[in-house]
Amino acid sequence: MTSHDTTRAPGRREELEEEPTDAPAYEVASRYELHVNGAARTVEEAWLGESLLYVLRERLGLSGAKNACEQGECGSCSVLLDDVVVCACCVLAVDAVGSHVETVEGLTRRGVAADIQTALLDAGGVQCGFCTPGFVVAVYDLLRRRPDAGDLEVREALSGNLCRCTGYGRILEAVRAVQEERSRAGV
Ligand code: FES
Ligand code: FES
Repeated sequence: MTSHDTTRAPGRREELEEEPTDAPAYEVASRYELHVNGAARTVEEAWLGESLLYVLRERLGLSGAKNACEQGECGSCSVLLDDVVVCACCVLAVDAVGSHVETVEGLTRRGVAADIQTALLDAGGVQCGFCTPGFVVAVYDLLRRRPDAGDLEVREALSGNLCRCTGYGRILEAVRAVQEERSRAGV
């Protein structure tokens, strides 16, 4: 079977028609706890298949991470999971139990992303703004690991974040401005 062999694709009707079972259509967790932005947040009566993005936005009221493609392609939903940038749309919320989740709201509250947000505004790196929270998270993560990241490294670090509006020039300009300002301030 080749990767384009649609005749054997699992979506064929006869393969979808399963014997009826007594199993419930979906599983509901009675209760689990996430650690988000430094606080314990309880999630109740949720389907176990819900993504971290869905739970953050729809159950916990944290709408900073955006839902654009919902398939790991655009980076609009970027959050930190145990200090690693992930696409929250591709992580099951229950898989984040026991981990530390930080969203753009958490970074903003801690004041560690304010200069990035300001620089994006000043440089005109924000147009529709839909991609912006993801860029803020990605730039924050890059600069804490690689404060002196060169142009190529910055481009590579932001390659998972898609912007449909700005052409990227102004976003890159904003990153350079943050690097220069932090370097001047000795941060
Ligand atoms: S919404 Fe998650 S990567 Fe696009
Ligand atoms: S500013 Fe619109 S997608 Fe980036």
